[in-house]
Amino acid sequence: METSEIRRRFLQYFEDRGHTVVPSAPLPSPDPNLLFNVAGMAQFVPYFVGQQTPPYSRATSVQKCVRTLDIEEVGKTTRHGTFFQMNGNFSFGDYFKDKAIEYAWDLVTKPQSEGGYGFDESVLYASVYYEDDEAIELWKRIAGLPDDRIVRLGMKDNFWSMGVPGPCGPCSEILIDRGPEFGADRDWEAGDRYLEFWNLVFMQNIRGEGGGKEGYPILGELPKKNIDTGLGLERVAYLLQGVDNMYEIDEIYPVIERASELSGRKYGVDHVDDVRFRVVADHVRSALMLIGDGVTPGNEQGGYVLRRLLRRAIRSMRLLGYEDPSLVELLPVSLEQMKKSYPELEPDFGRIGQVAYAEEDAFRRTLTAGTSIFDVAVRDTKAADGVELAGAKAFQLHDTYGFPIDLTVEMAAEQGLQVDTAGFKSLMTEQRERAKADARAKKAGHADTSGYRELREKGVTEFTGYQELATDSQVRGVLRQGAIATAAEPGETVEVVLEKTPFYAESGGQIADEGLIVADGVKLQVLDVQRPVKGLIVHRVKVVEGVVQPGLDVHAEVDHEWRVEACQAHSGTHVVHAALRQVLGPNALQSGSYNKPGYLRLDFAWSSSLDQTTRSEIEEVANLAVRKDLPVSAQYMTLPEAREWGALALFGETYDESVRVVEIGGPWSRELCGGTHVKRSSQVGALTLTSESSVGAGVRRLEAFVGMEALRYLGRERALVRLLSENLKARPEELPAKVADLAERLRTAEKELERLRAGQVLAAAAELAASPKDVFGVSYVGHRAPDGVNGGDLRKLALDIRGRMVADKPAVITVLSVNDGKPAVVVALNDTAREWRLKAGDLVRVAAEKVGGRGGGKDDVAQGGGTDPAGADEALAAVEHSIGQLVTG
Ligand code: ALA
Repeated sequence: METSEIRRRFLQYFEDRGHTVVPSAPLPSPDPNLLFNVAGMAQFVPYFVGQQTPPYSRATSVQKCVRTLDIEEVGKTTRHGTFFQMNGNFSFGDYFKDKAIEYAWDLVTKPQSEGGYGFDESVLYASVYYEDDEAIELWKRIAGLPDDRIVRLGMKDNFWSMGVPGPCGPCSEILIDRGPEFGADRDWEAGDRYLEFWNLVFMQNIRGEGGGKEGYPILGELPKKNIDTGLGLERVAYLLQGVDNMYEIDEIYPVIERASELSGRKYGVDHVDDVRFRVVADHVRSALMLIGDGVTPGNEQGGYVLRRLLRRAIRSMRLLGYEDPSLVELLPVSLEQMKKSYPELEPDFGRIGQVAYAEEDAFRRTLTAGTSIFDVAVRDTKAADGVELAGAKAFQLHDTYGFPIDLTVEMAAEQGLQVDTAGFKSLMTEQRERAKADARAKKAGHADTSGYRELREKGVTEFTGYQELATDSQVRGVLRQGAIATAAEPGETVEVVLEKTPFYAESGGQIADEGLIVADGVKLQVLDVQRPVKGLIVHRVKVVEGVVQPGLDVHAEVDHEWRVEACQAHSGTHVVHAALRQVLGPNALQSGSYNKPGYLRLDFAWSSSLDQTTRSEIEEVANLAVRKDLPVSAQYMTLPEAREWGALALFGETYDESVRVVEIGGPWSRELCGGTHVKRSSQVGALTLTSESSVGAGVRRLEAFVGMEALRYLGRERALVRLLSENLKARPEELPAKVADLAERLRTAEKELERLRAGQVLAAAAELAASPKDVFGVSYVGHRAPDGVNGGDLRKLALDIRGRMVADKPAVITVLSVNDGKPAVVVALNDTAREWRLKAGDLVRVAAEKVGGRGGGKDDVAQGGGTDPAGADEALAAVEHSIGQLVTG
């Protein structure tokens, strides 16, 4: 049975039984403690913990998950994959253990012809949390399992949580016995023979901080008893497809086949190669899904995980002997498989490919740069008779050049060297500790959210700012450093929550509103507005006058100018985005944005820089849209309706049931957006692009000024032109030609100057050659040239003098000049002088010492320099003296 069919049947089965089918949340996790979703229940946490009322009491989903804790294990054992899908059915205070067990058992054992999975009952087992007698009774009654096919296991195996504080509970799993060739009888721990594939969590507790699977406290009960189940889609797929492991299922194996064709190596022959094939297939698929959900490679957080996955895949292909760019061959193969369940990948593949291929390019360049560092390290190690590359080197290669340690080890082995991996590991640990400490420090900066939650429990704070800029309201609460306070005094900076507010909280790239909250004798200046928990708007304010306390009636008013310009900037962002897509095509999709009054910035997926013509075109399309005075409107609809409409959603965002779509000029621009906007496009005013740059592989950034700020920017440019025009005495339109002409004339003048200077320097040559000093039979010219003669000219001069002197008499020429306060010296001598055993290298050293420097070179010409011009004349004398000593000594 195809994986997509297993998935389809699951959703169908539960939909038929009153479950709402909920789409997978995007991979990036909404929980700040987790990078990616690791279980199907992640998007339902607010329902489990009672923070929000679920719109349904039963739900089912197939959730995309990424776990990278065991990334090193991928392919070594066959049980680890980074991307996987979890089929789940959920009950929010509706059914509990009995129904969960009944549904799971029914679907698993129902014949395939009747829509089930058709597993043979006789090889199925159940595990339960060791104290859970009730579950044991249910397995006996509902599934008819005998005692010896039910096993009690401890907290490690049968108590489930996300690994972080939050909902948790005892669980019960369905296991399949794969037969004696996979392990010993009743060896539950090893996990290969008795493979668990469906986990039923009886979600009823809430846990606190703590490590591992057992080391955390249970803080209490959840408001209701819930069900959270997880059926490992890939596991069921390999069991039903009769293959050995997840890498061999229909969704993954074709990538292995393609990798085998490319590399010419076979899968299933050599264990080491097999691991590489599996790493390639697993990582390519994970990268496809991550980029699909808007993750881009980077050096932090999720971006780093993606980068690592891509690099490991590329590296594994190289180890398989394939050195050409490989993602361009492999990613489309993965797409072919994954689009069956995720059709949205196909239209987006242009962008996905761009991001991945750009990262491969970057990595290949890195490899080239790192390889030269590596080569130097190898040479130095060998020169010092070492047999081991230092841990610090391996660390540098890893940290700066992105070399995985196994790459360094292998490359070193090829050179007959080992690597101090222990040293490397300890540096890695140090770095990790530092990162952890940083993360802890960061977290401590975030106020504990319990104060916010307490205020949120009193209801959603209403945002009135779409309709009005001033609202009469009441203070619901005051928080000092995150803790509920009774009042705040003048001079303090605190947080204030109102029952309703016109202040826009920073989100969707738009910064928070500024303005005032006032009451009789009370004045609060709004510094920032955020939504730290969903549904709660929090104003950070400075108390200017009076005392603020809960219950106080207030008048909240956004600074009008500010808001007008904020709207211009946000609508401007949508206009630029639409213009960008009109000019570059639909692959140019926004990946992030930021806007504040007068300014906007937009990041988008694109791998090459935009030339001036393209930039002008985008700017023109944007300004035309402004001039057309298009209507701007916002409306609410369901997410599927919005997609149907072609509204652009930002990746990685979790959207509510009902979403807000902002459109400008009908279908021209439709985006999911909660921001504030102008009413008609002409109100955006002028738009001027100011820069276009790269912000990482495959991502470009456009910046623009909007409205008055755009005019001011143009004004500044005009002033600049006026200034140039005045200084150069040319009309503005003549400036380019004038500047080009000036530059050309400057170049010519410099060349001429150079020629004259060299001529002048050399002009002295004839005279100098004609009157050497006799030093014990050696003709000696010691000449201090004028200041400012460079090394090259000095050399020319020395050689010129030498050429003019008689060859059958030993001749030594020393010339010296001080250039920018630094003496340079050249010594040249002829063959006869060399027969007299004089050496230019030795003599130049003598000279250089006198000017506080060093020198060296060949026997016939040598060059040196120093830092002390005071010794210049002495240097010439020292050479003369030295010649005397050498020829007489
Ligand atoms: N949330 C449970 C799991 O991930 C079902 O195993």
